[in-house]
Amino acid sequence: MAETVIEVKGLVKSYGELKAVNGIDLEVKAGEVYSILGPNGAGKTTSVEIMECLRVKTSGDVRILGHDIDKEQKEIRKRIGVLPQSFNAFDYLTVKENIDYFGGLFDRRLSTDELIESVQLQDKRNVWFMNLSGGLKQRVGVAISMVNDPELIFLDEPTTGLDPKARREVWEVIRKLKSRNKTVILTTHYMEEAEILSDRVAIMDQGGFIAMGTPRQIIEKYGSGSTCLVKSANDAARALVASAGMSSEFKNGDLWVKLEDKGSLAKLVNLLSGSEVTYEEMLIKGSTLEDVFLKLTGKKLVEASS
Ligand SMILES: Nc1ncnc2c1ncn2[C@@H]1O[C@H](COP(=O)(O)OP(=O)(O)OP(=O)(O)O)[C@@H](O)[C@H]1O
Ligand SMILES: [Mg+2]
Repeated sequence: MAETVIEVKGLVKSYGELKAVNGIDLEVKAGEVYSILGPNGAGKTTSVEIMECLRVKTSGDVRILGHDIDKEQKEIRKRIGVLPQSFNAFDYLTVKENIDYFGGLFDRRLSTDELIESVQLQDKRNVWFMNLSGGLKQRVGVAISMVNDPELIFLDEPTTGLDPKARREVWEVIRKLKSRNKTVILTTHYMEEAEILSDRVAIMDQGGFIAMGTPRQIIEKYGSGSTCLVKSANDAARALVASAGMSSEFKNGDLWVKLEDKGSLAKLVNLLSGSEVTYEEMLIKGSTLEDVFLKLTGKKLVEASS
């Protein structure tokens, strides 16, 4: 059984009247990539910054790497790494100089060369931080979060604002951390990112966790099964599906048919083989964490984030 690295019970953080974090429980095991997924203002940064000893909780119990957050912050800080939200380094220092600077703050540290290699920035080592793209800057941030060779690394929205290619490059760096047995806490708005990278996910909204588990468990528990999208379906297709009693919805010329049981797909294919039926293509779509969020909150993650 893997060691428990984070143990949070009944954590609350109030800002005046607002309960930004409203009694969350969390247990993270060594070696996990654990994502906290939620829209703007959900309470992600507040929660992780309490665990990082950067903010003070209102109430609740928090143990990090076996240490009590109230009494043993010095021990915790030595053994964790942090990439803060909206990370910035020194503009007029190079990649190497920035990593050297932050490394100098710790007694125990990895070599700058090793860190540069682990985020694949060898060809940028002598470039000023200000002249890097957003994705490269985030990779410098991940390297800096690792200077003290931490067991537990917090990455607060490492991919927000990056283009798809740069996001994938940051994902590779996170995968590498996992392969080196690091425990990673990731916060994100992107359900796809949480689904792809995480062993487990907690979906957060308005200060609370509304669903937790592996992406598969969450989707099985709260998702609404599979749907077949019949693109550009004609009236005949629509009428046949309706008369067969299949649950369906017609939107913008496309027919969405719910696949309620094992026989549903075969039944649908059979119906759509009628000579008067026309459509462009059929696609089967499973539920995603985005669907779960919509179902549980009535909001889309992206809308809730904007
Ligand atoms: N220092 C503060 N003082 C007062 N309110 C705060 C403070 N920090 C955060 N809040 C409020 O607490 C709530 C949670 O904020 P938090 O930054 O934790 O959310 P988040 O999930 O990280 O959002 P985002 O995705 O935008 O980073 C928000 O309503 C925010 O306005
Ligand atoms: Mg935040």
